[in-house]
This record gives sequence, C-alpha cells and structure tokens, in this order.
Amino acid sequence: MKNNIHPIHDRILSREEREKFLNQKGMVIWMTGLSGSGKSTIAIALEKKLFEHNFFAQILDGDNIRHGINSNLGFSIEDRKENIRRIAEVAKLYKESGIITICSFISPTREMRQMAREIIGKNDFFEIFIDTPLEICEQRDVKGLYAKARAGEIKGFTGIDSPYEKPMTPTIQIRTVDMRIDDASDEILGFIIGQGGERGEKGKSNRESHRVEEPPSKYDKFENLSVWQEAMKLAELIHGLVENLKIHALKEQIYRSAISIPSNIAEGYERNSNKEKIRFFYISKGSCGELRTQLMLLQRFQKNQNQKLEEAIKKCYGVSALLSKLISARLKFEK
Ligand code: ADX
Repeated sequence: MKNNIHPIHDRILSREEREKFLNQKGMVIWMTGLSGSGKSTIAIALEKKLFEHNFFAQILDGDNIRHGINSNLGFSIEDRKENIRRIAEVAKLYKESGIITICSFISPTREMRQMAREIIGKNDFFEIFIDTPLEICEQRDVKGLYAKARAGEIKGFTGIDSPYEKPMTPTIQIRTVDMRIDDASDEILGFIIGQGGERGEKGKSNRESHRVEEPPSKYDKFENLSVWQEAMKLAELIHGLVENLKIHALKEQIYRSAISIPSNIAEGYERNSNKEKIRFFYISKGSCGELRTQLMLLQRFQKNQNQKLEEAIKKCYGVSALLSKLISARLKFEK
C-alpha cells in the first residue's frame, strides 16, 4: 500500500514559473553551528532584510519544526539524523516553490549535512557556518542548557558530550566574535542577491528593466520633483565616492545602482498608467536597497571611517523612504 501512489506529473506550475512569479530564485540557506551560536538571531535579521529587498523567505528552525513535524524526535544521533532528513525534505519542497528557505539547525555532523545537501540538490544548498567558540556559547548560555549539560542533567548535549564537526568548506563562515549581527546578515544577503543575479530571474528581470544610462536632458522637467532631486544628489555623491575606487567590479555595480535610481523614477513619471508608474518606483526602491548593501560592503573594505560613505548610506534610506511615500500614495489611487 505504502508506495502505491502515483507521482503528480501534470503540475500546473513548474518551478521556473513559480520562480518567475516570485521574481527570485528558490534556494536553501543552511545555517549550522553550536546551540547558542547565534543561528536563529542571524536567520531572523536575514529574513527581515530579504523582506525589505522584496525577496520572499521562510525560516525553518526548532520553533516550527521540533515542536511540530518532528515533535516525536529527541537528540540521539539517530533522531538528529531523522530530524535533519525531514527538514531537508521540507526545505526542498519550499525551494522548489521558489522560496528562499533559511534552515537554522545545529546539524552536528558532516554526514548529516551531506545528506541534506544531497536531498536538496548541491546547486541550491548553501552552507553557512555560524562559527562561535564553545566557550562563548557556554558563557552566553541563553537557554541555561549548557549549565544543565555540565551538571549532567541533560545527556548528549552538542559540544559537551555529543560531537560537533565543523564544516570544512562552508559557502560562508561567520565568526560572530568579530562581527555584528547586522553585518553577518548583510554578508549573507549580499551573497543571496549575487546568486539571484547570476542564476535567478530576479537579477535577470531587474537587469532587463533597469535603465542604467545617464538620465538624458528630457528628464530636466523632473528637476522640481524632490524625490528625483534627492536621487540625483545621491548619484552625484556616489560618483565622487567611487571615482578612484580600485575594485572595478564593485565600482561598476555601485555606479549602476546609483544611476538607475533617478532613471527609473523619471521613467515612472513618463508612463501614463499608474500601475506602470508604481512598477518603476518599486524598481527604483530596489536599487536603493542594492546600493545600500553595496556601500556597506565597501565600508568594510575601508580602514578609516569615511564620512561621505556614511552620508551616502543615510541618503539611500532617505530616498527609499521618499519612494515608499510615493508608492503608497499611488497605491491608494489604485483602490
Ligand atoms: S540537531 O542536532 O538535531 O540539528 P536542532 O537544531 O534541531 O538540533 O535543535 C537544537 C536545540 O535543541 C538547541 O538549541 C537546544 O535549545 C535544544 N536541545 C535540547 N537538547 C539538546 C541536546 N542534547 N543537544 C543539543 N541541543 C539540545
């Protein structure tokens, strides 16, 4: 009886169609690390940022898995394996639906993570090692479980009397000791955006719809529009900032994002349809987010504090807020 089920061949939507609809690439961001290493905190910050960048993500962690689908499992190595197997199967379904799935589990052994990678598919599985030394996790002991494990009240606790095998070649290694949560989530966000750009519909469609040329003089009439003016000021500021930048790839990207903000605002104003206007304002807002991420990346390369750079990052928020206002006003008009 068990296997007497026919697979569904005639699905209504393919993975590609779902991804196109969501305008993003489905993938699994697999976070591994000790209990208390900061996995869930980083996952939450990342999900929030993805949402702000118009990506659709879902976190799988102990709260929604170990209390639900896996409530019958404990912490023996066998149960942990089964925990990870089911999580990987669920993550695979989410990913196939085009969702960026953030898994936050200790997943203590290489074998378990390898199994997850195989179930999910190696091209869609990205391992993020949240690298926090045991001493620090134990010092923090947010849930008071390390103290219990040391007292012998919990047996088989990861790092104490149950193994944790560090990943050898994670996609990203986050050393929480020298990194703030904000920067850690930005690093993963930057990676996801890069993946979308390389492989996904998101990058492709944005690239197609972004106008990256210098706004021509026909846009002069927009000069009295405060949001356009602000976007132009930002683009000028950026121009001065990146002019002498040696990292050419980053320079190009930053310049493109910066110039596409006023271009798309102007393009929106040129359209007659309100829906089309909103679409261009959204694209512009997306570029603000991209630019901000790129500038933050740049900030990390720089040894000294750079006031202009900080000013530009603030300005990104400013222009983005103005665009939000513009969009919500236009959305009301839609109703
Ligand atoms: S995993 O090893 O199977 O991947 P999972 O990430 O689901 O573990 O759950 C880990 C969380 O369960 C810990 O953060 C901790 O709060 C709790 N926990 C309870 N018992 C243990 C234990 N023996 N070892 C590790 N974590 C435990």
